[in-house]
Amino acid sequence: MIKLLKKNDLIFFILKSFQSLFKKIINKIIIYSGLDERISKIETSLVYKLQPKTFPWQTLCLNGQENRKKIITEILTKIKFDLIVETGTEYGFSTKYFSQFSNKIMSIEKSKPIFFMAKNNLIGEKNIKLILNDSKNLNLILNNEDINPESESTVFFYLDAHAEDDYPLIEEISLILNKFKNFILVIDDFEIPGDDGYGYDSYRGKKLNIKFIKKLLSKKEYIFFPNVHSSNETGRLRGYVLITNNEDFKQTLNTIKEISIFDL
Ligand SMILES: C[S@@+](CC[C@H](N)C(=O)[O-])C[C@H]1O[C@@H](n2cnc3c(N)ncnc32)[C@H](O)[C@@H]1O
Repeated sequence: MIKLLKKNDLIFFILKSFQSLFKKIINKIIIYSGLDERISKIETSLVYKLQPKTFPWQTLCLNGQENRKKIITEILTKIKFDLIVETGTEYGFSTKYFSQFSNKIMSIEKSKPIFFMAKNNLIGEKNIKLILNDSKNLNLILNNEDINPESESTVFFYLDAHAEDDYPLIEEISLILNKFKNFILVIDDFEIPGDDGYGYDSYRGKKLNIKFIKKLLSKKEYIFFPNVHSSNETGRLRGYVLITNNEDFKQTLNTIKEISIFDL
């Protein structure tokens, strides 16, 4: 019957159009449900697992950006934070780097295969707590860890959790800016004004830049950008911003010659 129908040009055209529409819908469902992203993560972790074991965190932490490393090392050496929180653990390169500077490091990863990969890489690291969760739930995660955002504790945040279909930044930044009293916050993949050599993210057509976060800021924060030109940086060349709400931390940031305060 179908064979007979297919002989008619018009019916063949309609059947083919339906078939192609059906394929498009299925593809969209796969993409928008994040299935392709999940498959790619499983593939990444499988390839990683099958490769000879190396953990080159010294060269690959902080996107392999030497100047970024110099700046953050200077901050973390000058200020001893009670807690360092990273969102987006991935392989754990930066997590391991952070573990040199505080007695308590928390890193949050939402992909199960990637989480276990990082766990393997960071076996035996007593001051690191890896958490399998969506960093949109930062408030809840901190509550579960008995961390009171409204305490006087000093916290260094490194926000680096993002994916094609997911952008937890708004929830993360709102919580940090509204609740924490003494923090330095670094947001990765952020547009650096006047230097397009550094890459940055965009979400739903909006660039991750000062305009994107402006409505979350309360005028009590100080904003710093690296002043090292991208042509003098190494590694993946991603932009970033540093934000603090603490007067003493601001003074410390002012002593670092590779970053400059930004006037809103
Ligand atoms: C760029 S990688 C992080 C790199 C890592 N911070 C480093 O410096 O080595 C981003 C990671 O964020 C994770 N991720 C994406 N969305 C997330 C979310 N909502 N919550 C937690 N992790 C997330 C991804 O699975 C990925 O492993």
